[in-house]
Amino acid sequence: MVTAHAPGKVYLFGEHAVVYGEPAIPCAVERRATVTVEERSDARLRVDAKDLQLEGFTVEYGETGGDPAVEAPNPMLEAATQYVDGAVSQARDAADAPEAGFDVTVESDIPLGAGLGSSAAVVVATIAAAASELGVDLDPREVADRAYQVEADVQDGQASRADTFCSAMGGAVRVEGDDCRTLDAPDLPFVIGYDGGSGDTGELVAGVRELRDEYDFAADTVAAIGDLVREGEALLEREDEGALTELGRLMDFDHGLLEALGVSARSLDSMVWTAREAGALGAKLTGAGGGGCIVALDATDATETALTYEAACEQVFRAELATDGVVVE
Ligand code: MEV
Repeated sequence: MVTAHAPGKVYLFGEHAVVYGEPAIPCAVERRATVTVEERSDARLRVDAKDLQLEGFTVEYGETGGDPAVEAPNPMLEAATQYVDGAVSQARDAADAPEAGFDVTVESDIPLGAGLGSSAAVVVATIAAAASELGVDLDPREVADRAYQVEADVQDGQASRADTFCSAMGGAVRVEGDDCRTLDAPDLPFVIGYDGGSGDTGELVAGVRELRDEYDFAADTVAAIGDLVREGEALLEREDEGALTELGRLMDFDHGLLEALGVSARSLDSMVWTAREAGALGAKLTGAGGGGCIVALDATDATETALTYEAACEQVFRAELATDGVVVE
C-alpha cells in the first residue's frame, strides 16, 4: 500500500492565455489531494472518493470498461472515472504492468472544479502512488508529464501543462507551452475566497477559443495577459514591498482581462471587489473561472475578515505557498 499527496494551486497570472502559448505563473498552495493505492490480485479498479468537499462515493469497475454501477451524481462520477482511470493507465505504462488492478482511495481538501487544481492534484498523486506501488519511483517531472497527458485526454487536448506541472513540482512555476520551470518566489500572502460553486473548464476554455476566433479584441486580450505575466515575473525577483504592491495591481488588471474574455461570474466579481475594498493589494479569479475561487494578496487580516461578511463567499482561507510538490510517503 502506498500513499502520495500533491498540492492544489492558484494562478498568480496567466490562466486561459497559457492555453495559447502565453506564459503563466501558477503557485502551489497548501491544500492537498491524498491518494492511497493498493494493488489487487485482479485487474479491476476500485475507487473510493472521500472528503472531496462533496459527498463521498465508491465506484468499482472492471478491465473491460463499460458503465460502472454506482449511485453518484454524474460529474463526480466522470471526474473519478476519467481522471483516476487515466492516472492508473499512466502508472501501468510506467511500470510496464498493463494488467495491474488497484484499490484507490482519494481524499482531498481542495474544492472540486473551483480553480484550485483539484483534478491535477488527484491525477499527480494517483500516478505517483500507483507507480510506486508497482515498484517504480517516478521523478516529479515525469509525473508532471504523464499527468499532463491525462488532463489533455480528458479535456480534449485543451489543457496546458500549468496545473499538472505546478502540482508535481510545488512552489511557484512558469509554464509557456512545453517549457516548464520552477521559480524562486517569495511566500506571497494569498487569501482565497470560494463561492461554493464551480465552472466547467472544458466549456470555459472552448468559449475563450470561440471568442478569440471571432473577435480581434479577444486575441489582443490573450496577448495582453501574456505581457502582464512577463511583467509579473520580473517583479517576483524583487523582494521589496513595492514589488508586492505592483504584483497586486497586475492581478487586478489580469482579472479585468479575464472578465473581458467572459470567464468571470457575478460571485467572483463580488468577492474580488470586496477584497479590493478591504485593502487587498490585488484580487483576481483563479483557474478556469465561471465560479469557484478568487485569490487576493493581503498580509493583513482585512481581506479575510471582509470576505467572511461577503454574501457571495462561502468559504475564505489563507493559503501558504506549498514548497513541496508531489510527495510519496
Ligand atoms: C484551468 O485551471 C486553467 C486553464 O488555463 C486551462 C489550462 O491551463 O489547462 C483555464
